[in-house]
Amino acid sequence: MSPGRGRLVAGNWKMHGSLASNRDLLARLCVSLNANQGAEFAVCPPFPYLAQVSAALTGSGITWGAQTLCENDHGAFTGEVSGAMLRDFGCRYVIVGHSERRQLYSESDALVGAKFLAAQRSGLLPILCVGETLGQREQGETEAVVARQLDAVVALAGVSALESAVLAYEPVWAIGTGKTASPAQAQAVHAFLRGKVARMDSGIADALVLLYGGSVKPANAVELFSQPDIDGGLIGGASLVADDFIAICKAAMRNS
Ligand code: 13P
Repeated sequence: MSPGRGRLVAGNWKMHGSLASNRDLLARLCVSLNANQGAEFAVCPPFPYLAQVSAALTGSGITWGAQTLCENDHGAFTGEVSGAMLRDFGCRYVIVGHSERRQLYSESDALVGAKFLAAQRSGLLPILCVGETLGQREQGETEAVVARQLDAVVALAGVSALESAVLAYEPVWAIGTGKTASPAQAQAVHAFLRGKVARMDSGIADALVLLYGGSVKPANAVELFSQPDIDGGLIGGASLVADDFIAICKAAMRNS
């Protein structure tokens, strides 16, 4: 990690949790993590738990976000949640373009771009996810896929929008599978992404926080986070286990 860039570890709880289990997890995080540890820590719970998370984490230094949002600001969109609503609950971040949204809910590059814009209109920092499937990697298409996913957003929002965003590389084949990209594989894609942004604006590229996600665990976090272009992690399964998430956060601090 570059000393000049921010470091961030964000937990994506996906569709997990309950009031009772969240209470225990959040209490543990509050005891072990705070804002003055050379890195920022965040959790992204399901929508119904944002009020609970906001109450538990306000004043702790730990931040929070949501897992998706509507591309529209308000109106007749049954079941959707707007960026302004997320801001009402103190969200700092919102994940857009997660591979589960792209694959299971058919979110296109264009829709991901519209959600990215909606997030920024509401004052949220989008965590834009990009990543290839196993088939695409085996076909040698990794760079083309992540470039296309990033270009779709830059074409709509402009490169300067990346000043107020986080980019997460999440290879689909590594999500929830226990198969982590090796530190060298992850670093290679991160370097490609940063280089691509640098050709548009080197200052924005230098400052861009680039997270790796996909089976990050306490056992592999230190090595992943010590790669020069990996500035932290987007953590799924391990973010639901207090000891594991805290250990991963501490790995980001050790490298800070
Ligand atoms: P896992 O850490 O469970 O592989 O999930 C990664 C992820 O999808 C985070 O957004």
